[in-house]
Parts: sequence; structure tokens; C-alpha cells
Amino acid sequence: FPEETVSLVQARLREVQDFPAPGVLFRDITPLIADSEGFGALIDMLADRYRGKVDAVAGLESRGFILAAPLAIALGVGMVTIRKAGRLPGPVVGVDYDLEYGSARMEVQPFTVEDGQRVLILDDVLATGGTANAAFNLVEQAGGVPVGLCVLIELVDLGGRSALDGREIEAILSY
Ligand code: PRP
Ligand code: MG
Repeated sequence: FPEETVSLVQARLREVQDFPAPGVLFRDITPLIADSEGFGALIDMLADRYRGKVDAVAGLESRGFILAAPLAIALGVGMVTIRKAGRLPGPVVGVDYDLEYGSARMEVQPFTVEDGQRVLILDDVLATGGTANAAFNLVEQAGGVPVGLCVLIELVDLGGRSALDGREIEAILSY
């Protein structure tokens, strides 16, 4: 990714101490999204990177949706909607995954993915990799070929990259 655009994007993120819990440094993407220049530059940069290489973009509820929808339009492809459990009308396929406390489930409607379609998975943050790993499995279960994960922010210490061993991962920013 071009350094100049990465810096422009990075400058529009906000660091919030002790959110959502004490001791956590939260990286807030909302000021970037609220800025048309920054948001536009981010989507243009992603479109330049993936143009012609993917047949669909999968967005992960909630914050992945914000990035996936404009990128899909910019690439001239459709967006696959991967949602938290119970939100999509059937038929759906689902994958359970572990969280720090408890578990969660993501679902997709298989008819929104064409057989053999090359799908880019897009999310705001890669942390432990649980969410992204579920998304890779869902795209496969739906008949697609997940070509990789792209995130705006990778939180390196949380080990997502090793949890997704063997998967293609690109991060715009790493902390
Ligand atoms: C956050 C973030 C990623 C996920 C990363 O989503 O947006 O989707 O966590 O964490 P992981 O790598 O440990 O799975 P969250 O579930 O907080 O919800 P939101 O996107 O709806 O805000
Ligand atoms: Mg999320």
C-alpha cells in the first residue's frame, strides 16, 4: 500500500485509552470514516490493490460492512453479507467460534456466493483472528474461494496471523 495514503489514513484514527475495558487501547476508525478525503483515499487505495483480482467482497458485521460496501462498488463486484447469528433469514450456514469470554456465531446465506467465486474478506480489525477464521470457513461452506483477508488494522500481539495460519492476510496498519 502506498505510504502517503497509509499516513493520511493513520492520521485520522483516534486512540482511546481504557475502552471498552480498563487497560485496553482502542483504535477508533470513526474519525477516518467521517472524513470524506480520508475515507475516499482508503477506498481508492483498496480498489487499486484488488481491482481485477476478486469477484466479490465479504463484509463482516458490523464495522467490516462500512469498508466492504464502498469497496465492492469501487471494484464493480457484489458484497457478501456475513452477519452475527440470528440476523439473516434462511437458508444460512453458520460457524461458531470462541471469544475471550464465551463464544459467538457468524452466518452467511450460501445463495449470496457463487460457486468458485473469488472472495476477499474485509474487516476493520484483526485481533485474535476468531472472527476472520469463521469468515474464511463460511465463504468456503458457501462454495466460494476466499482469496484473503484485508484489514485496516492488525493488532499483532493478539496473534490473529498465527490463528489464520496458511491464509493470505494483508493489513494496512499494524500495531
Ligand atoms: C471487532 C472487530 C473485528 C473483531 C476482531 O468486532 O470489528 O470484527 O472484533 O476480533 P477477533 O480477531 O478477536 O475476532 P466486534 O465483534 O467487536 O463487533 P463490531 O464489528 O460489530 O463492532
Ligand atoms: Mg467487527
